[in-house]
Amino acid sequence: MLWPGSECVVTTMTEDNWQNCGFQIYRSLKRKDGTESGKPPLLRSTSFTADTIRKASVQWYKMKWQFTGSANDLWGEEVQGYAVIDANSPLAGPVDFFRSGRVNQIRVRFFNLSRGDDASDDFRCAFLKFGETENEGPLDLSFSTGRVSCFHNTATLQEFLTALDGDEDCTRDWALRMPNNYYALADGIRRYPKCRTALDYHNYATFSVKTGNGNKLVRFRLHGNNDVDSRLSKQEQEEAWIIQRPDMELPSDTYLQQKLRNIAQENLTMKLQVQIRDITDVKSVFDPTTEWEENDFPWCDLADLCLSYSVPKLSTERAKYNFCSLPEHIQMVVPEGTEDYGSLIQIQEKVLTSTTRKKHQEGLTPAGHKETTFLVHVETGNHLFSGTDAGVYIALYGTKGRTKKILLDKLFHNDFERGSKESYYITVPVIGDVKFLQVFLIGGKYTFKREWFLNYIVLMDLTTRKLFEVPVYRWISDKITIPTGEAMLYQKERNTDRKYLRRIWLDERDKLYPWARKEGLPGCIASETYNGLPDELKYSTERQIEKKKILADVLIKLKLHKYTTVFQSFDSFDDFKTMSEVVPSSETSAAIKEDDRWRTDEEFGREFLAGVNPVMIRRYKEPIQKFPVTNDMVGNLLDRGLSLDQEIKAGHIYYVDYPHMAGLPRNGEFFVSDPIVMFYVRDSGQLVPIAIQLSQEPGPKSPIWTPNDSEMDWLLAKMFVKAADSHYQSIYSHLVQTHFLMEAVTVTLHRQLPPNHPVYKLLIQHCTFTVAAGQMGRDLLLNGEDSVFKKILAIPGHEIDLMKNRFKDFTVNELIMPKAMADRGVDDAKLLPNYHFRDDAMLIWNTLSEYVSKIMALFYKSDTDVADDSEMQAFLADLREEGLRKSAGPPNGLPKKITSLPELVEIITMIIFHSSCYHAALNFTQIDYFSFGPNYPSSMRRAPPSKKGETTMQDVIDSLPNKSTQAVSIAFASYLSEPLSDEVYLGEYQDSHFTETEVREILDWFSDEMEKISQSIHKRNIDLDIPYVYLLPERVPKAAGQ
Ligand SMILES: [Fe+2]
Repeated sequence: MLWPGSECVVTTMTEDNWQNCGFQIYRSLKRKDGTESGKPPLLRSTSFTADTIRKASVQWYKMKWQFTGSANDLWGEEVQGYAVIDANSPLAGPVDFFRSGRVNQIRVRFFNLSRGDDASDDFRCAFLKFGETENEGPLDLSFSTGRVSCFHNTATLQEFLTALDGDEDCTRDWALRMPNNYYALADGIRRYPKCRTALDYHNYATFSVKTGNGNKLVRFRLHGNNDVDSRLSKQEQEEAWIIQRPDMELPSDTYLQQKLRNIAQENLTMKLQVQIRDITDVKSVFDPTTEWEENDFPWCDLADLCLSYSVPKLSTERAKYNFCSLPEHIQMVVPEGTEDYGSLIQIQEKVLTSTTRKKHQEGLTPAGHKETTFLVHVETGNHLFSGTDAGVYIALYGTKGRTKKILLDKLFHNDFERGSKESYYITVPVIGDVKFLQVFLIGGKYTFKREWFLNYIVLMDLTTRKLFEVPVYRWISDKITIPTGEAMLYQKERNTDRKYLRRIWLDERDKLYPWARKEGLPGCIASETYNGLPDELKYSTERQIEKKKILADVLIKLKLHKYTTVFQSFDSFDDFKTMSEVVPSSETSAAIKEDDRWRTDEEFGREFLAGVNPVMIRRYKEPIQKFPVTNDMVGNLLDRGLSLDQEIKAGHIYYVDYPHMAGLPRNGEFFVSDPIVMFYVRDSGQLVPIAIQLSQEPGPKSPIWTPNDSEMDWLLAKMFVKAADSHYQSIYSHLVQTHFLMEAVTVTLHRQLPPNHPVYKLLIQHCTFTVAAGQMGRDLLLNGEDSVFKKILAIPGHEIDLMKNRFKDFTVNELIMPKAMADRGVDDAKLLPNYHFRDDAMLIWNTLSEYVSKIMALFYKSDTDVADDSEMQAFLADLREEGLRKSAGPPNGLPKKITSLPELVEIITMIIFHSSCYHAALNFTQIDYFSFGPNYPSSMRRAPPSKKGETTMQDVIDSLPNKSTQAVSIAFASYLSEPLSDEVYLGEYQDSHFTETEVREILDWFSDEMEKISQSIHKRNIDLDIPYVYLLPERVPKAAGQ
């Protein structure tokens, strides 16, 4: 431990052999002066009270005016760049702010203490601010050259500054006043450094960090490249107070400033380092004149700093620092007396915050820079409330520099109104090719609300004629930093700043979109309600209004007929028809009801191939023990003259099964079964049901029903199947398998891919409103006493159990259509004809796959590019470990790493298909099927029958939902599946996230292909009694947003 007055006062540096001989020289000089150094004087400490702070603040204030002409102005040159927290950050555990890999924008201000001449000897200082802002950041630190402080409080600071500001004798007197002073002078002075970023800068404050092993103390330093040459030599230390410029050269007195102003070409780097120790000797630990021995407390790397841009002078002058600003779990040690360095910082902070001056926004063009003019074209979104009255400023960052904030404004013109396209001319210094820009909103109307929906900005450099497109398509509240439009893989980015920006972007998203873990269910965003969602993920105002209107309209119609308040049974099937007509009848819903088609076995079979839940049917390959159907029971229904076993082997027997509903408690008021149904493909190709068992356990209480039973027995059994399918479709196939899965994908996309990643650009349009829809689904359908599912389904409070039962068995192969169809054994159109969902889905899947391949091939030139894409691999890992996390059953099937382009294409195709086609097939069918209760009852009001030959028509009617329950089903089927006016359909492209011409050509190709598929589906539908229209591309929204 260094301690003034000790015999050996020379500290050996670890990096070099430079020695501070301050104490030796001090003693020898004092002896020459006829005085003896003796022991070091006692620290002059007084207790640290509010009164001390007040008095010291006044003293500081006066001192600042004395030395700088202003209480707040700080001089120096400011540069900005990025700090990347070290992968082995020693503070990563206790302090989230320093977690490994985190990237922060930073500013560093470099200045000399009191001298104006950069080539003269002086103390060099640096302020580090986390955050690219003129306001205080989350962590501001001040540093000076030298390992110990020349001053500890206002009084000693003034002594020191007065000494530096006087002649050489003044400095000498100050140095020899105390041994610490001489030591600090020799230690801190730097003569003619090569560069400011080559120096080491120390922060003398002691901070406390709470860890699992008790409090630790830390000190920080900025570590440069150890510019040893600029330290005082042994000979120079003997006359350390002599101020001198170098003999051999005559550098400019601003050469260091010039170096920083030209920083864009150099990308200067430094390290933020930290020393960590336990609390032991309090006095020496907190004494700013005492360094912590490097041998005992080595410096650990905390962050790499990359400094790339010079900050315009005015912005530097406006910048505020607050050295009491600290991240969570780290605090400055409370000063015990005025000698503690912490006391100085608290006083400084008090003065600075009370004397902050606001300067007007005005331009500054650095001298010597050539200028160019940009044409700036800005398009505001066309949603309601997209426009803004805030002042819109932009700052451009290019390969050669950056501009200041520039106000976009036209005199006497209301800029940035909804749907507006505005152009501006701005003249700025030459900054090279624009790589990213910042948009700032100042003086907006809304403090807590989204302020402006910006579609895009296009910049044209009128000197070089180069065009820079910046697609945004998002809400901006106060500020956004966004790269220019070209899509790029991370590993192919050549611009360092864009690389850092990507990491900053993702780091922010990690905080904005945190996961909420739902045990046994897909991950979702951590928000309890729709209102808690980030603005960016909420519905557009128009969509909210339109959805509310749809619901209000249908409720009004239902109330007019008093359906919503009448709890009595329907009198007949015709009564149900009348009620279903409160919503517009489609061709499908009309055909189902016409001539009681819904009662036929042919229609029952058709609906499992082209109805509201066409993803259940499977080929019957092996005998199902729990479903003991025999040839005796159904042999007469088989029309090829073959036995049941022979028909099974021939691939003509299919089934649907609802095992995941078994064992779920029912509510007593409503009933639902967990049935199994056997289907037969007749020689004509028609699929018909031939056996139904209404539970998973065969036996006398659960007979197997067939068309050979009475008409009412068979009809009621079929209704119980449909009620079970209603539950399964609503709760799992639709809500979980489209909405919750796509919500998980969307959250992952936002968290893991930056906006200039090609996969982000491709997928973002298929993620529009998907998080809003998922959360709205939880709010309306699941949560609360008034939830829709509680009103119409038979397992209130246990819907989530059904989800978990089913999701346990989930694997991604279910989402990959070719694999899913093969796995269910329904991929052979000859064996199972008329499966229009399959046929149309495969048609679109194959085209989608080709489309994705074409686009991805533009960016991934080889499988190695896929394997090396760390962002895409992180996306997959997050989706695998959080989004589609499973707590039971087989793994979700997402690979640990993808190493080939075909694998990547398959996953992306799967996501697009699911958000668009799969959702459309399950969503927009709801109103056609659920609006007519006898065909698709939401639940039953009587228990499943157990005896044959007893069911009457009245029993059937009384088993169906009553009027108020059916009214809720109709209202919500309408609310959920009415197409919305702002939908964008497959093959349409409104938002140009891609700026590459090649991609736009592929988009055009895809639109043409969708048109061809549409034509072929229309052509096929001509021959169908009930056309299958749900996968017509022009009816498939691109995203599962409702
Ligand atoms: Fe939906």
